[in-house]
Amino acid sequence: MPELAPGAFHYPAFLDQCAQAALAEEIADVIAAAPLYVSTMPKTGAPMSVRMTNCGALGWLSDKERGYRYEAHHPTTGDPWPAMPPRLLKLWNELAQYAKPPEACLVNVYDEKARMGLHQDRDEADLAAPILSLSLGADCRFKLGGARRGDRAIAFALSSGDALVLSGPARMRYHGVDRILPTVGAPAPPALAAFGARVNLTLRRVT
Ligand code: SIN
Ligand code: FE2
Repeated sequence: MPELAPGAFHYPAFLDQCAQAALAEEIADVIAAAPLYVSTMPKTGAPMSVRMTNCGALGWLSDKERGYRYEAHHPTTGDPWPAMPPRLLKLWNELAQYAKPPEACLVNVYDEKARMGLHQDRDEADLAAPILSLSLGADCRFKLGGARRGDRAIAFALSSGDALVLSGPARMRYHGVDRILPTVGAPAPPALAAFGARVNLTLRRVT
């Protein structure tokens, strides 16, 4: 398991095909209950290219009026988010090694053109807890920068079944998705192929 930087751990193919397929089915159920939505940028209102939903007690979203935040309810249905599948809690216990369970799992769905600009995950009150990322489907070119936006970033592929942990000194590193690599990566598991090329889950402790 390469440590890319202090506290940043990449576990290639942590989930085997079978685990990926089972997780994909659970996430398809989450999407069926809590439909994908488009967050917009604070201030400008520009739509993000990634579509998203959540499971767990809290979910992340953003809009022009109220900015980045966690909410207990889906922005369009008004329903509470679906429960986090036990499989994700188990993965958190295995990989995050944090005493408290995650409260949010943000599901990011990328089509071939979607990307995510360099950002820090800083909307959580608990910044001591790691961020656990799990990827399904197409490879992407992932960038991991430093603590400041201008710091030099390293780029590497995240592939289906990969886990990435940003913990401790890496928790506040800038990161983003440059682009999706559809011809190189594994196709999205069948249960998720209808939604997009790549699906990324990030588990977060919020409060
Ligand atoms: C995120 O930073 O929220 C998502 C990262 C990814 O899609 O790998
Ligand atoms: Fe992030």
